[in-house]
Amino acid sequence: MKTGIFYGSTTGNTENAANLICEQISGSHAAPIGEMQRANLESCDLLFLGASTWGLGELQDDWVDALSMLSGSNLKGKMVALFGLGDQASYPGTFVDGIRDLHDAAVEAGATVVGLCSAAGYDFQDSTALIGDKFLGLPLDEENQSDLTDERIQTWVEQVIKEAA
Ligand SMILES: Cc1cc2nc3c(=O)[nH]c(=O)nc-3n(C[C@H](O)[C@H](O)[C@H](O)COP(=O)(O)O)c2cc1C
Repeated sequence: MKTGIFYGSTTGNTENAANLICEQISGSHAAPIGEMQRANLESCDLLFLGASTWGLGELQDDWVDALSMLSGSNLKGKMVALFGLGDQASYPGTFVDGIRDLHDAAVEAGATVVGLCSAAGYDFQDSTALIGDKFLGLPLDEENQSDLTDERIQTWVEQVIKEAA
């Protein structure tokens, strides 16, 4: 299964998370979404897509430009797993909202989204990335819960690989 890991990152936190995901998947490498073309996305069977959230619930800048490329891609029969960086203490009402934007664009492209996560263990008020009591991807919070990042990524990547098999 060809796996691609693409991210948009302003201060490096999403990039670091992408590299940690990469370490768990042999033969994969992580790349900034700003340098990618539609063909790079379409050539993968499983895509890990990561974004941080800025402003008040806004998608990271590189993704603002790349979102229409994602939604306009043909990802029918492909799987997409989403991860998002945010700060639940400072932005509790828009925590990792960017995951929702990636989700909606991936669904528009025809992909199946895997790797939903329980909201247990996070302390926030609201997020557009929620569906019921689950997030549409993996939230990570380097400001408040950086000690949990390694374990969260490890458990989640195992979950995604099982779902995608
Ligand atoms: C001005 C500003 C606005 C932010 N807005 C949000 C937000 O609305 N929701 C959220 O979850 N995190 C928000 N964050 C936190 C960032 O998403 C977080 O620092 C993230 O780790 C940055 O990742 P990056 O370095 O990959 O861009 C904001 C941070 C700053 C400085």
